[in-house]
Amino acid sequence: MRLDKFLSITATATRSEAAKAVRAGEVLVDGEAAKKADLQIDPETATVTFRGRAVTYRQYTYVMMHKPQGVVSATEDGREQTVLDLLPAELQRLRPTLFPCGRLDKNTTGLMLLTNNGTLSHRLLAPARHVDKTYHFRVKFPLSAEDAAALEAGVDIGGYVTAPCRVERLVAEDGACREGMITLHEGKYHQIKLMMEARHNQITALARTDFGPLSLDPALAPGQWRLLRAEEIAALEAAGK
Ligand code: URA
Repeated sequence: MRLDKFLSITATATRSEAAKAVRAGEVLVDGEAAKKADLQIDPETATVTFRGRAVTYRQYTYVMMHKPQGVVSATEDGREQTVLDLLPAELQRLRPTLFPCGRLDKNTTGLMLLTNNGTLSHRLLAPARHVDKTYHFRVKFPLSAEDAAALEAGVDIGGYVTAPCRVERLVAEDGACREGMITLHEGKYHQIKLMMEARHNQITALARTDFGPLSLDPALAPGQWRLLRAEEIAALEAAGK
Protein backbone atom coordinates (compact mmCIF):
# COMPACT_ATOMS: atom_id res chain seq x y z
CA MET A 1 0.00 0.00 0.00
CA ARG A 2 1.24 3.51 -0.76
CA LEU A 3 2.43 5.46 2.26
CA ASP A 4 0.16 8.44 1.50
CA LYS A 5 -2.84 6.09 1.23
CA PHE A 6 -1.89 4.49 4.54
CA LEU A 7 -1.78 7.94 6.17
CA SER A 8 -5.13 8.90 4.68
CA ILE A 9 -7.07 5.72 5.56
CA THR A 10 -5.78 5.88 9.11
CA ALA A 11 -7.12 9.46 9.22
CA THR A 12 -3.62 10.75 9.97
CA ALA A 13 -3.30 13.16 7.05
CA THR A 14 -4.80 13.94 3.68
CA ARG A 15 -2.77 12.89 0.66
CA SER A 16 -1.42 16.44 0.20
CA GLU A 17 -0.58 16.83 3.91
CA ALA A 18 1.17 13.48 3.73
CA ALA A 19 3.25 14.61 0.73
CA LYS A 20 4.22 17.81 2.57
CA ALA A 21 5.17 15.94 5.74
CA VAL A 22 7.25 13.46 3.72
CA ARG A 23 9.12 16.34 2.06
CA ALA A 24 9.78 17.82 5.51
CA GLY A 25 11.18 14.46 6.70
CA GLU A 26 8.37 14.13 9.28
CA VAL A 27 7.24 10.63 8.28
CA LEU A 28 9.37 7.71 9.43
CA VAL A 29 8.98 4.18 8.13
CA ASP A 30 10.76 1.57 10.24
CA GLY A 31 12.82 4.34 11.80
CA GLU A 32 13.94 6.03 8.58
CA ALA A 33 12.58 9.19 7.00
CA ALA A 34 10.48 8.24 3.97
CA LYS A 35 11.75 9.86 0.78
CA LYS A 36 8.59 9.59 -1.28
CA ALA A 37 4.87 9.71 -0.49
CA ASP A 38 4.21 6.88 -2.93
CA LEU A 39 6.61 4.53 -1.10
CA GLN A 40 5.10 1.02 -0.94
CA ILE A 41 4.72 -0.27 2.61
CA ASP A 42 3.13 -3.34 4.19
CA PRO A 43 0.49 -1.81 6.49
CA GLU A 44 0.42 -4.93 8.69
CA THR A 45 4.11 -4.91 9.52
CA ALA A 46 5.57 -1.41 8.89
CA THR A 47 6.18 0.88 11.86
CA VAL A 48 5.14 4.33 10.75
CA THR A 49 5.43 7.56 12.72
CA PHE A 50 3.94 10.87 11.64
CA ARG A 51 5.42 13.97 13.28
CA GLY A 52 6.69 11.81 16.12
CA ARG A 53 3.42 9.92 16.72
CA ALA A 54 3.06 6.21 15.98
CA VAL A 55 0.33 5.49 13.45
CA THR A 56 -1.71 2.37 14.11
CA TYR A 57 -3.15 0.56 11.15
CA ARG A 58 -6.76 -0.49 11.29
CA GLN A 59 -8.68 -1.65 8.34
CA TYR A 60 -12.00 -0.38 9.65
CA THR A 61 -13.09 2.20 12.18
CA TYR A 62 -16.00 1.85 14.61
CA VAL A 63 -17.45 4.79 16.51
CA MET A 64 -20.02 4.76 19.30
CA MET A 65 -21.91 8.03 19.43
CA HIS A 66 -24.52 9.38 21.82
CA LYS A 67 -26.72 10.91 19.17
CA PRO A 68 -28.31 14.13 20.36
CA GLN A 69 -31.74 15.42 19.29
CA GLY A 70 -32.05 17.45 16.10
CA VAL A 71 -29.28 15.70 14.16
CA VAL A 72 -29.98 13.46 11.18
CA SER A 73 -28.56 9.94 10.70
CA ALA A 74 -26.83 10.62 7.39
CA THR A 75 -23.35 11.33 6.11
CA GLU A 76 -24.36 14.58 4.44
CA ASP A 77 -27.45 16.70 4.18
CA GLY A 78 -27.91 20.02 2.43
CA ARG A 79 -29.78 21.62 5.34
CA GLU A 80 -29.55 19.60 8.52
CA GLN A 81 -26.62 18.83 10.80
CA THR A 82 -25.63 15.15 10.45
CA VAL A 83 -24.09 12.66 12.88
CA LEU A 84 -20.91 12.79 10.77
CA ASP A 85 -20.69 16.57 11.32
CA LEU A 86 -20.25 15.82 15.05
CA LEU A 87 -16.99 13.96 14.43
CA PRO A 88 -13.57 15.61 14.18
CA ALA A 89 -12.15 16.36 10.73
CA GLU A 90 -9.77 13.41 10.73
CA LEU A 91 -12.66 10.97 11.19
CA GLN A 92 -14.82 12.81 8.66
CA ARG A 93 -12.16 12.40 6.02
CA LEU A 94 -11.57 8.67 6.60
CA ARG A 95 -11.82 6.60 3.44
CA PRO A 96 -13.97 4.59 3.05
CA THR A 97 -16.30 7.12 4.67
CA LEU A 98 -17.87 6.41 8.03
CA PHE A 99 -21.65 6.03 7.88
CA PRO A 100 -24.38 5.31 10.43
CA CYS A 101 -25.24 1.63 10.86
CA GLY A 102 -29.03 1.92 10.66
CA ARG A 103 -31.04 5.05 11.27
CA LEU A 104 -32.51 6.94 14.17
CA ASP A 105 -35.14 9.63 13.67
CA LYS A 106 -33.99 13.24 13.94
CA ASN A 107 -35.48 13.56 17.42
CA THR A 108 -34.41 10.15 18.70
CA THR A 109 -31.34 10.18 20.91
CA GLY A 110 -28.95 7.49 22.10
CA LEU A 111 -26.65 4.81 20.81
CA MET A 112 -25.57 5.19 17.21
CA LEU A 113 -22.86 3.05 15.66
CA LEU A 114 -20.84 4.52 12.82
CA THR A 115 -18.45 2.43 10.81
CA ASN A 116 -16.86 2.13 7.39
CA ASN A 117 -17.15 -1.67 7.47
CA GLY A 118 -20.01 -2.00 4.97
CA THR A 119 -20.08 -5.79 5.04
CA LEU A 120 -20.50 -6.02 8.80
CA SER A 121 -23.04 -3.20 8.90
CA HIS A 122 -25.08 -4.91 6.22
CA ARG A 123 -24.96 -8.22 8.09
CA LEU A 124 -26.03 -6.67 11.40
CA LEU A 125 -29.11 -5.17 9.75
CA ALA A 126 -29.99 -7.97 7.33
CA PRO A 127 -33.46 -9.39 8.11
CA ALA A 128 -32.12 -12.88 8.87
CA ARG A 129 -29.73 -11.72 11.61
CA HIS A 130 -31.07 -8.29 12.48
CA VAL A 131 -29.62 -7.60 15.91
CA ASP A 132 -31.85 -6.60 18.84
CA LYS A 133 -32.18 -2.90 19.50
CA THR A 134 -33.50 -1.58 22.79
CA TYR A 135 -35.04 1.83 23.35
CA HIS A 136 -36.31 3.77 26.32
CA PHE A 137 -39.58 5.46 25.44
CA ARG A 138 -41.95 7.98 26.95
CA VAL A 139 -45.55 8.21 25.82
CA LYS A 140 -48.20 10.90 26.05
CA PHE A 141 -50.99 8.67 27.46
CA PRO A 142 -50.66 5.80 29.95
CA LEU A 143 -49.68 2.51 28.33
CA SER A 144 -51.84 -0.33 29.66
CA ALA A 145 -50.75 -3.95 30.12
CA GLU A 146 -53.10 -4.74 27.24
CA ASP A 147 -51.33 -2.17 25.04
CA ALA A 148 -47.97 -3.72 25.91
CA ALA A 149 -49.24 -7.23 25.11
CA ALA A 150 -50.61 -6.04 21.76
CA LEU A 151 -47.31 -4.33 20.90
CA GLU A 152 -45.40 -7.47 21.83
CA ALA A 153 -47.61 -9.67 19.64
CA GLY A 154 -47.41 -7.29 16.66
CA VAL A 155 -49.47 -4.33 15.44
CA ASP A 156 -50.40 -3.05 11.99
CA ILE A 157 -48.31 -0.01 11.11
CA GLY A 158 -49.89 0.73 7.76
CA GLY A 159 -50.02 -2.51 5.85
CA TYR A 160 -47.22 -4.21 7.77
CA VAL A 161 -47.70 -6.23 10.95
CA THR A 162 -44.69 -5.87 13.23
CA ALA A 163 -42.76 -8.94 14.35
CA PRO A 164 -42.93 -10.05 18.00
CA CYS A 165 -40.95 -7.76 20.30
CA ARG A 166 -40.43 -7.20 24.04
CA VAL A 167 -42.02 -4.38 26.02
CA GLU A 168 -41.25 -3.59 29.65
CA ARG A 169 -43.62 -1.13 31.31
CA LEU A 170 -42.11 1.17 33.92
CA VAL A 171 -44.99 1.91 36.25
CA ALA A 172 -45.04 5.16 38.25
CA GLU A 173 -46.20 5.52 41.89
CA ASP A 174 -49.69 6.47 40.70
CA GLY A 175 -49.91 3.08 38.93
CA ALA A 176 -49.74 4.57 35.42
CA CYS A 177 -47.10 3.66 32.85
CA ARG A 178 -45.82 6.60 30.82
CA GLU A 179 -42.42 5.14 30.00
CA GLY A 180 -40.76 1.82 29.37
CA MET A 181 -38.28 -0.20 27.37
CA ILE A 182 -38.93 -1.80 24.01
CA THR A 183 -36.68 -4.28 22.21
CA LEU A 184 -37.12 -4.79 18.48
CA HIS A 185 -35.62 -7.46 16.29
CA GLU A 186 -36.27 -5.51 13.09
CA GLY A 187 -36.11 -1.89 12.04
CA LYS A 188 -38.86 -0.35 9.97
CA TYR A 189 -38.93 3.37 9.31
CA HIS A 190 -40.45 5.23 12.33
CA GLN A 191 -41.34 1.81 13.71
CA ILE A 192 -41.82 2.60 17.41
CA LYS A 193 -43.58 5.88 16.69
CA LEU A 194 -46.00 4.06 14.37
CA MET A 195 -46.47 1.16 16.82
CA MET A 196 -47.53 3.59 19.55
CA GLU A 197 -49.83 5.37 17.12
CA ALA A 198 -51.41 1.98 16.32
CA ARG A 199 -52.36 1.90 20.03
CA HIS A 200 -53.71 5.50 19.84
CA ASN A 201 -50.73 6.81 21.76
CA GLN A 202 -47.80 9.09 20.95
CA ILE A 203 -44.09 8.89 21.57
CA THR A 204 -42.86 11.98 23.43
CA ALA A 205 -39.24 10.83 23.80
CA LEU A 206 -37.22 7.96 22.40
CA ALA A 207 -33.64 7.00 23.25
CA ARG A 208 -31.74 3.93 22.06
CA THR A 209 -29.83 2.22 24.87
CA ASP A 210 -28.57 -0.96 23.16
CA PHE A 211 -27.64 -2.10 19.68
CA GLY A 212 -26.91 -5.84 19.47
CA PRO A 213 -24.11 -6.51 21.96
CA LEU A 214 -23.36 -2.79 22.48
CA SER A 215 -24.77 -0.66 25.29
CA LEU A 216 -24.54 3.11 25.28
CA ASP A 217 -21.51 4.16 27.33
CA PRO A 218 -22.92 6.21 30.24
CA ALA A 219 -19.78 8.38 30.12
CA LEU A 220 -20.90 9.79 26.74
CA ALA A 221 -23.06 12.91 26.96
CA PRO A 222 -25.35 13.70 23.99
CA GLY A 223 -23.13 14.66 21.03
CA GLN A 224 -20.08 12.84 22.39
CA TRP A 225 -18.46 9.78 20.83
CA ARG A 226 -15.61 7.33 21.32
CA LEU A 227 -13.96 4.58 19.30
CA LEU A 228 -15.18 1.05 20.05
CA ARG A 229 -12.91 -1.13 22.16
CA ALA A 230 -11.42 -4.32 20.71
CA GLU A 231 -13.81 -6.53 22.71
CA GLU A 232 -16.82 -4.52 21.49
CA ILE A 233 -15.69 -4.94 17.87
CA ALA A 234 -15.24 -8.69 18.45
CA ALA A 235 -18.77 -8.90 19.94
CA LEU A 236 -20.23 -7.07 16.93
CA GLU A 237 -18.41 -9.38 14.54
CA ALA A 238 -19.77 -12.39 16.42
CA ALA A 239 -23.30 -10.92 16.25
CA GLY A 240 -22.94 -10.51 12.47
CA LYS A 241 -21.84 -14.12 11.89
N1 URA B 1 -38.45 3.77 15.91
C1 URA B 1 -38.79 5.07 15.70
O1 URA B 1 -39.97 5.41 15.59
N2 URA B 1 -37.81 5.95 15.63
C2 URA B 1 -36.51 5.65 15.75
O2 URA B 1 -35.64 6.53 15.68
C3 URA B 1 -36.16 4.30 15.97
C4 URA B 1 -37.16 3.38 16.04
